[in-house]
Amino acid sequence: MGRASLSVFWTLSVLLIQCPPVVPVTVSTNNPKVEVHEDSDAILSCKFQTEIDQNPRIEWKKKGTDVSIVYYEGEFIGAFAGRASIVGATVTLHRVTQKDAGEYRCEISATQDSINLGETNITLNVLVPPHTPACVIPSSVLTGSVVQLLCVDQQSIPPATYIWYKDDKPLTPYRLPNATYQINPTTGILEFNTVTRGDTGHYSCQASNGVGMPKMCEPQLMKIDDLNIVSMVAMMVTCLIIAICGCGGYYAYRNGYFSRHRGRSFWIPQCHGVAHISSQNLHRAEDKTNVNYSPPSQEPADFRQTQSFML
Ligand SMILES: *[C@@H]1O[C@H](CO)[C@@H](O)[C@H](O)[C@H]1NC(C)=O
Ligand SMILES: *[C@@H]1O[C@H](CO)[C@@H](O)[C@H](O)[C@H]1NC(C)=O
Repeated sequence: MGRASLSVFWTLSVLLIQCPPVVPVTVSTNNPKVEVHEDSDAILSCKFQTEIDQNPRIEWKKKGTDVSIVYYEGEFIGAFAGRASIVGATVTLHRVTQKDAGEYRCEISATQDSINLGETNITLNVLVPPHTPACVIPSSVLTGSVVQLLCVDQQSIPPATYIWYKDDKPLTPYRLPNATYQINPTTGILEFNTVTRGDTGHYSCQASNGVGMPKMCEPQLMKIDDLNIVSMVAMMVTCLIIAICGCGGYYAYRNGYFSRHRGRSFWIPQCHGVAHISSQNLHRAEDKTNVNYSPPSQEPADFRQTQSFML
């Protein structure tokens, strides 16, 4: 028994000494970062070398929110079935979409090798050329106000940068000391701190991301007007009417008109009506807490006193 185990030990020792230096299965890629346009083919390169194993197992996985199998036991799985091909261990995905973007892993397992697992990672970016940006340009603004013009293209990958044009001439994104605006090329916001009549013009914006052709929105007219005399007069008249109503209401109240219609009047006069409502609510609240409550005699003189206090 003891002699048998001893001979096994010696045989193993001899074998280990005679073994060549260990060369593990090696896996590599020609291109660890693949960038392709939508709808085109993506080549995910994977090269391997093994010690002895002539027929290693090839597997491809994709890391998204969780890991999914792309290629297993000689077949493409799930979303990749029927639209991918493999040569050696290199995979070609056909007609890629945004959903295919992510991190892929090529795994080679050579069961006969001493170190029998190797892998390489490949990142796939699916580029999307700019779409026509959505531009928000007010048609009319008042002199001196703060105005923001917006330009967005959310779909492009990598994210777009923006250039604003006024009357077909590009606006400089740098802040000049005498410029009335500032531009953020990454957010696409053109902002006027105090817009002037000179800023009137046709504005448009261009989105570009280095993929495909830049895209531009239709120029739109932004008019800058001084405060309109007609609208000013209209505003003043409205104020005047409100003031007259308020005072009328107050005089009606003062002369005891509302005390005769207590609890029934739904018309709330401006300004002084507030005092009327709140005093009424106060009485109601007291009614609830005190069953035997009898309302105090409300003589016009009492009201005059509270009113003058409120004024
Ligand atoms: C590949 O990525 C995985 C994580 O997703 C990491 O554990 C592994 O070390 C990477 N392999 C190589 C060869 O970079
Ligand atoms: C701003 O000032 C520069 C000179 O300092 C001048 O050339 C330019 O025309 C001015 N721009 C505007 C919009 O006034």
